[in-house]
Amino acid sequence: MASTANYKLGEFDYPRGWFMIGDAAQMGPQPETVHFFGKDMVFYRGASGTPYLVDAYCPHMGAHLGINSTSYIVRDGEHVDGESIRCPFHGWRFGADGRCNAIPYSPDFIPKAARLTTYPVIERAGIIWMWHDPEGQEPDQDLPAFAAWDLEDDGWVRWVIDDFGTLALHPIEIVDNMADFGHMGPIHGSLDNQYFDNVFDGHKVIQRFDAGHRTLTADTGETLSLDTWYEGPAILQADMRGTFPSHMLIAHTPVDDGTVRVWHALMVKMPTAEAALADLQVARGYQKASHDALAQDVEIWANKQACFNPMQIPADGPYGKVRIWYSQFYNPRSKTTAIQQRVNGQIVTYGEKRVVERAA
Ligand code: FES
Ligand SMILES: [Fe+2]
Repeated sequence: MASTANYKLGEFDYPRGWFMIGDAAQMGPQPETVHFFGKDMVFYRGASGTPYLVDAYCPHMGAHLGINSTSYIVRDGEHVDGESIRCPFHGWRFGADGRCNAIPYSPDFIPKAARLTTYPVIERAGIIWMWHDPEGQEPDQDLPAFAAWDLEDDGWVRWVIDDFGTLALHPIEIVDNMADFGHMGPIHGSLDNQYFDNVFDGHKVIQRFDAGHRTLTADTGETLSLDTWYEGPAILQADMRGTFPSHMLIAHTPVDDGTVRVWHALMVKMPTAEAALADLQVARGYQKASHDALAQDVEIWANKQACFNPMQIPADGPYGKVRIWYSQFYNPRSKTTAIQQRVNGQIVTYGEKRVVERAA
């Protein structure tokens, strides 16, 4: 298994950013264990429904806060108490800020050190997101808005989450796709390439690609036009302009150093809200086609060996720059600006250079 150190990405094994940790519809109300970034954590929802994420192990004597079914704490329904979570072992209770706020058999003394590490969590667009930062600081990137989720009145059909599971792959090999002009025909069936560029812009990188497609536009001869971008290290979105506009998400989160969990989802815009209701099947068909396109990449990823240095030829996209861009998330914040300055700008791999007008 190839680790972050093998790719020489930076000081940290795991990147800084916003990351998907699960499908909101499937998370809660009972506390559950989640494992990402080489760490056991516990997800729970308070009585208000608010999501929380804390380290799994109790500072008192190390019990797992999430995995228990036989204690009287759990059987009596006291595992979650208001917005707090209670350890099943001795009943110490921890608030939303991670601090112990009650010990059942010690009303007058609570050690100051009795606190859990907590992680910023946001529920948005049907997904639970966490902020991960090796330096333990507050977010310096915004979680994307996923605005179409709230535009059902305009005909947007919300996505459902496709879970691709955990791959024995370092996430950098997924991010490489941003520069991967050469695989569009062989893997995805693109035809008659017209344009391919990348725009590096701080913590974002954009790919703009226009081409025909063997199946998707074979009948009409139309061009498929695709803008794809990362905001941060692990959230890829794409806008596809076809018969119906669509908005795609690929989210990937390190499980351990060298393995990654991958999800996919797609929202589709019908002409009206009524059409969206009537044509749910069309939207789901779009999502299926998009899912199957990602599955073509996944089949390669699941079976390839690690690539530490692409044998880059002039007609390839800028793999080297994509990897430098990605390295900003594996290094201290003090180095971010210098890394971004090395790559910021536009690289046109195919076609007549265009002005950057569609930058997301
Ligand atoms: S180990 Fe958690 S309360 Fe004792
Ligand atoms: Fe691909």
